[in-house]
Amino acid sequence: MLLITGATGNVGTELIAHLAARDIPVRAMTRNPAKASFPSTVEVVAGDFDQPDSLTAALDGIEKVFVLPPGYGPEGPVQERALAAAARQAGVSHLVKLSTSGVTFNATDPISTGHRLGEQVIQDSGLAWTILRPGTFMVYLYGYAPTIATDKTMYVTEGDPVSAMIHPRDIAAVAAHVLTTPGHDGHIYTLTGGQAYSPQQQADIIGQILGQPIKLIERAPAETQAEFDRLGWSGPRLEALLELKRQSAAWDWQVFDTVEKLTGTAPLTLHDWVRENIHIFR
Ligand SMILES: NC(=O)c1ccc[n+]([C@@H]2O[C@H](COP(=O)([O-])OP(=O)(O)OC[C@H]3O[C@@H](n4cnc5c(N)ncnc54)[C@H](OP(=O)(O)O)[C@@H]3O)[C@@H](O)[C@H]2O)c1
Repeated sequence: MLLITGATGNVGTELIAHLAARDIPVRAMTRNPAKASFPSTVEVVAGDFDQPDSLTAALDGIEKVFVLPPGYGPEGPVQERALAAAARQAGVSHLVKLSTSGVTFNATDPISTGHRLGEQVIQDSGLAWTILRPGTFMVYLYGYAPTIATDKTMYVTEGDPVSAMIHPRDIAAVAAHVLTTPGHDGHIYTLTGGQAYSPQQQADIIGQILGQPIKLIERAPAETQAEFDRLGWSGPRLEALLELKRQSAAWDWQVFDTVEKLTGTAPLTLHDWVRENIHIFR
């Protein structure tokens, strides 16, 4: 039996669907089972990284765990330490941790730092481990949807990265492969999409699929910050994300062929993701 944490999130939802479609016994962890919806064959369990006692029941009878720390900073490794201790106690054999490509590139923002420390926790757990380090998820484009829908305008910050964004379904496909085939113990896999696009190219792809041109407007960082303040979005989580974005301009364009090497299938494209989600831009 596999335990999937973060089961209701971007990657977890895809991973549960992938495993359930192949009749692989799987248990989904969420803090709120009553709110979650999974395929009927999936076991659902209540569990909270911040309440370590809740992890005991979640891990009972589990062989391998997909570890998705939801934190964006120092709480990540704390949550992972609790999970690793409970997993050892429960007799789990293998932990597969979702990290970030920022670790590959020695980024020093709080998100990458949290994952770097979390990786160490998993590697020191005494259990077999595998680390997945994806780059920017395509779901990042959700942030542009409101102004594209209302004004056909995409606001970005000067210096925003050219990015080889990855579809969460590809991360899930790699995670499923690692969880269900041998030979991944002690491996670290950096994952990206198959092609890098600038913000202008991203706007062009959305416009092409929408059938209406999208105007790209670059803001100075201070203008972006003022807009986020106005929207009430400020706070440490956003700060961490903006710092990661600033640093990632140096490397987010790099393409890794790991998805195809591991799954045998080329990564989904940005066109695929936009087509599936075009309603958010209307
Ligand atoms: N977005 C990116 O571009 C990007 C790039 C690289 C790496 N990452 C990493 O990917 C991870 C986020 O993945 P995602 O986007 O799939 O997640 P997500 O959609 O943000 O969902 C978060 C998940 O975490 C669960 N969760 C939140 N607090 C929890 C707690 N205290 N205990 C147990 N579960 C909890 C939520 O489940 P319930 O609410 O149902 O409990 C939910 O399933 C982060 O570690 C992030 O650093 C993101």
